[in-house]
Formats: sequence, C-alpha cells, structure tokens
Amino acid sequence: MPYDPTLYDDLKPDRDYEPPPYSSWPLAQHGPDPRPDWVLTDNNALDTELGVLKTGKEADVHLVRRALPDGPGCLLAAKRYRSSEHRMFHRDAGYQEGRRTRKSRDARAMAKRTTYGRAIAAGQWAAAEFGALARLWDLGAPVPYPVQLLDTELMLEFIGSADGTAAPRLAQCRPAAGELADLFAQCTQAMRVLARAGWAHGDLSAYNMLVHEGRLVLIDLPQIVDVVANPQGAVYLERDCVNVCRWFGSHGLDTPDLDHLFGDLMAEAVAAF
Ligand SMILES: Nc1ncnc2c1ncn2[C@@H]1O[C@H](COP(=O)(O)OP(=O)(O)OP(=O)(O)O)[C@@H](O)[C@H]1O
Ligand SMILES: [Mg+2]
Repeated sequence: MPYDPTLYDDLKPDRDYEPPPYSSWPLAQHGPDPRPDWVLTDNNALDTELGVLKTGKEADVHLVRRALPDGPGCLLAAKRYRSSEHRMFHRDAGYQEGRRTRKSRDARAMAKRTTYGRAIAAGQWAAAEFGALARLWDLGAPVPYPVQLLDTELMLEFIGSADGTAAPRLAQCRPAAGELADLFAQCTQAMRVLARAGWAHGDLSAYNMLVHEGRLVLIDLPQIVDVVANPQGAVYLERDCVNVCRWFGSHGLDTPDLDHLFGDLMAEAVAAF
C-alpha cells in the first residue's frame, strides 16, 4: 500500500509501547520478483510500529510504517507468530497425515515443493506462509504481496487505506446483491487459481478474506493443502467450498451450487497433478 505523506500525522504509534524505529529489510529474506513499485527497498528505511491490527491465538498482526527520514514510505502488515511451543497443533495434524507415506505420488509432490514442505514439517509457520504467498503471488492469486520474512515475522502488503484503516473481513461486510455476486465470483476465481496449481486454502472462511474497495483478498495461508497428494486434501477443499457457499448463501446469494464448485475445483486439482 503506497503511503500518503499528507496523512502521516494521523498515524500515531501505540501508546503503551513505542519501540524506536528499526531497520529490518537488510536482514530479511525478500519476496518474489518482480517486486511491486511501492515496496521500499532502501537499506536506510526505518520501520515504525503503529499498533496492533489483530491479536490471535497463533499470531498477532501489527501495522508498521516503513519510511526514509522525511522521505517516501509504505504501510505493512507484520504477522508475528508465537514461539514454536504455541504452534498450530490442530493444523499440524492434517499435514502429518499427508507425510506418513512418502511414496510415489506423495514423494513427487513433496519434491516439487520442498521448501514449503520442509517449513511445514518443522512447524515453521511464518516460513510456510511466506513460501505459500510467494507461490500464489506468482500465480496471480489475489493475496497480499509477501514483502519479507525474518524469523517468525512475516511482513505483508497492508490491505487497507492510506490512513492505516485495515480492510474489513468479508464476515464484517453486508454487500448488496450485485456486489455479493461479484465477490462470490472473485472468491471462486481465486479458489480456481489455487486449484489449477493443485492447492486448496485449507482454512478458507469469511474471516480469512478481506474486502478492499470491492476487491477480495485471501489471507491467512500457512496451511495451504495439496489437494491430491494429501489424503485429507479433498476433505479440506470440500470444507473450504462448504464455508464459502454457506456464507454467500446465507447472505442472500441465489443458490451457490456446492457440488458444482467442489467438483469443478477437484477436477482442476487432479488435472494439475
Ligand atoms: N495484509 C493484511 N492487511 C491488513 N490486515 C491484515 C492483513 N493480514 C492480516 N490482517 C488482519 O489481521 C487479522 C488476522 O490475520 P490472519 O487471519 O492472517 O491471522 P490469524 O493468526 O490466523 O488470525 P485468526 O486466528 O484471527 O484467523 C485478519 O483478520 C485481518 O483483520
Ligand atoms: Mg485468520
């Protein structure tokens, strides 16, 4: 998100905790090329904490401004995972299952995706999410650009406005009929991009999609699932489809066809294998 300097004064750092600005870009692993123009890559740029966007069980998301002294800047969402003792055991379970028999199909799939697979196996969720986002960004999926990875912290494109207001989750939106149909189309199209690469989100719900100026963005992707290689893959994909159809159906969309969506995406994932 490009940073609007005229709004600079409105962005107040957290009251209770004001660490001095720091530099993290030179130390971090960087996101995929081509890099969007708004990403500030100057080694002298400093990060300032502006507050918490959301605290969660497994990670907290903070708003950070990266800027050169008196120069241009950008807003970032810093997702900080808790230490490995607090890692996501419930999400872990499904993956372990996929890893038990590492033969033929499974092994081939894992070999294609070693960095991601290794990060998952080690419970390195920040690295896993960074890897997944980089892949999905390359595929053109609507996800925040992954700016950098440093230990358990992931820095993402901030989805929201230039004054630091985060985009609402889909769950908080009450779209009118026309917009609802458009968001459903964007959502299923995003799921299709993932399926064509063999993936399902794995935890897709109205809480893990943001809506910014009519555009739907998928977030929270540490657990993307290999639909065919993971024995639970179809189950995860179906759950994503159920969540999506149920939410859109209960908010007024005419008959979202669950079987059709699931069948379609499953076919795409199988063809990609
Ligand atoms: N790139 C972003 N831009 C703006 N806001 C974001 C961004 N990423 C995350 N958020 C905010 O932080 C919240 C939590 O992010 P995310 O879902 O990735 O983490 P989580 O630890 O899984 O949280 P939860 O358990 O609540 O799902 C999101 O619902 C959203 O409000
Ligand atoms: Mg989430």
